[in-house]
Amino acid sequence: MKATIFTATLTFSLAYGQGSLEGWAPGGADDFRGPCPMMNTLANHGFLPHDGRNITRENAIHTLNTGLAFDTTLAGIMWDQAVFSNPKPNAIFFTLDNLNQHNVLGHDASLSRQDAFFGNNHVFNQTIFDATTALWGGTTLDANMLAMGKLARQVASKAFNPEYKFTSTTEAFSLGELAAPILMFGDHAAATVDRAMVEFFFENERLPSDLGWTKQTNGIDLEIVLKMSEIIGNAANLIAHTKPATHASSRRLGRGGMKIQMRDLYSGAFSVQG
Ligand code: HEM
Ligand SMILES: *[C@@H]1O[C@H](CO)[C@@H](O)[C@H](O)[C@H]1NC(C)=O
Ligand SMILES: *[C@@H]1O[C@H](CO)[C@@H](O)[C@H](O)[C@H]1NC(C)=O
Repeated sequence: MKATIFTATLTFSLAYGQGSLEGWAPGGADDFRGPCPMMNTLANHGFLPHDGRNITRENAIHTLNTGLAFDTTLAGIMWDQAVFSNPKPNAIFFTLDNLNQHNVLGHDASLSRQDAFFGNNHVFNQTIFDATTALWGGTTLDANMLAMGKLARQVASKAFNPEYKFTSTTEAFSLGELAAPILMFGDHAAATVDRAMVEFFFENERLPSDLGWTKQTNGIDLEIVLKMSEIIGNAANLIAHTKPATHASSRRLGRGGMKIQMRDLYSGAFSVQG
């Protein structure tokens, strides 16, 4: 078993985009990992370099497209925004360690990481994740459950972190991160996702194929990211006449709901604001 993992790891570090669902090994002492459970997962599977380095544009687009059915344009936009986290000018890659800088791309009130004020802000933290999942009242997650988990983390952070920061740009990123589980593992039309798959993914940083997951057959593009973000954003509104069911949120789309633009997703996110 050990030998198999070693061989698999060696293969990952020699060839790009050669990972597999079966070939999985967590990052070792010399490997970089970061605050993004999905980038860590893709590195653990060897879809991204297992050492967490040299994430080139070509690499990221190929991985997100072939591994997760991401539209290549969307994957390119995501990489373009992230490469600025590499402090070297004109960098052609970033590392998972580059993503660890506080208030560059990483932010407070993460679902599974503690705020930088309290310590390590990029390693999975079970205590924090438990605080998020405590608001998930079912085995099939809907937009309301995901949104309430997000708000609970913001409330706890704003209450106890004297350096709490969460801008409107952070909000747009955060909603995208909340949409991600549905987009990756769930039902796009119903805006729901199996809770066990989401927990397995966060806790193991591994794709939940053992739980029956397969790559989405419908591609993931900017339009669906914005749509799902909007559904979660609507569900996060605490003013409610009835508990907002997911399908009701979907019906409200386009009728005065929060509009998130690509420029909001990314503008100003890359400078540390004091
Ligand atoms: C170029 C590609 C990507 C980059 C550079 C990136 C970067 C990041 C960063 C910096 C964070 C930390 C934000 C925070 O402080 O909470 C994050 C969080 C997250 N990312 Fe990614 N990401 C990428 C792709 C993806 C993809 C494809 C998915 C899955 C669809 C994903 C899912 C998530 C989730 C669920 C979180 C929230 C984690 C939490 O709140 O604990 N990311 N990402
Ligand atoms: C970095 O990745 C590219 C592919 O995106 C590859 O051609 C190159 O050899 C890699 N560089 C190193 C140092 O591993
Ligand atoms: C997880 O977060 C809690 C709450 O901030 C903290 O007490 C604990 O030390 C963290 N654990 C790790 C491993 O960082």
